Amino acid sequence: MAVRNNTPQKINTMKLIDGKKVAADMKQEIAQQVTELKRAGGKTPHLAAILVGHDGGSETYVAYKIKDCEAVGFQSSLIRYEDDVPEEELLAKVKELNETAGIDGFIVQLPLPAHISEQKVIEAIDPRKDVDGFHPENLGRMVIGLPSFVSATPYGILELLKRYQVETSGKHCVIIGRSNIVGRPLSILLSQKAVNATVTVAHSRTRNLKELCLTADILIAAIGVPEFVKGDMVKQGAVVIDVGTTRVKSDQTKSGFKLKGDVLFDEVAPRCDYITPVPGGVGPMTRVALLQNTLLAATRKIYKD
Ligand code: GUN
Repeated sequence: MAVRNNTPQKINTMKLIDGKKVAADMKQEIAQQVTELKRAGGKTPHLAAILVGHDGGSETYVAYKIKDCEAVGFQSSLIRYEDDVPEEELLAKVKELNETAGIDGFIVQLPLPAHISEQKVIEAIDPRKDVDGFHPENLGRMVIGLPSFVSATPYGILELLKRYQVETSGKHCVIIGRSNIVGRPLSILLSQKAVNATVTVAHSRTRNLKELCLTADILIAAIGVPEFVKGDMVKQGAVVIDVGTTRVKSDQTKSGFKLKGDVLFDEVAPRCDYITPVPGGVGPMTRVALLQNTLLAATRKIYKD
């Protein structure tokens, strides 16, 4: 005979992590620091961005980056190339920006066309101006706990966890995705002494992914597959961070696109203590983290000379 379990289900009071609000607060803090810097006779921080081609997503992201600079009082420059720009020409521009004293930091928007080696371009950037934190020197410094530029999404996620006072010490954090930009650096940051999480990095060859995810106190989805994380993969009371920002066609928006996260929000949210929405969660934090890194570059806070 089946035994009925009459224990009432715990109903979580799920709280939304409002990345938009935290990013707006951080932007205000940065703008304030820029005002003080200028008042003290310091230079205006200057971010440059190189954009190759006309990919819709990249166009949008770079436009936001330039707009964000204006909002906090930074100077910005946009350097554009067509899709067929030779690799040597791009590398020559990177060298020029490395040597331009007025530019504190710059980024080369990825992805690049197939005929250009992204790794070569990243390695050509002076680590002192690598505000994306993609250069092996910055990644290596980060791994051993030296001051470094930390890539924007991991930086933004750590800041969200900190500002929402999410307990990380001793917690099991499962990250789905091992990219050089998000999953891998984030796994190292979360295991550092200041954070003290126990981290598992899951990927396409991970076995029993659902069972693994069910052991996560903090679950971070960074795979770029819309709505991959379903309700039955999430433990009651978990904290869920959704890094996904896949652009899907939509006839409900002016742009013709909408962003979809890696988490099936409506199923997962009722099980969580905290969850980030898409849009309005990690995305705005990624944007503000680039501003923070540019300010650190301009004020020589990472590399001292
Ligand atoms: N493409 C997608 N995200 C990023 C980013 O953070 N920086 C750069 N340079 N390119 C990207």
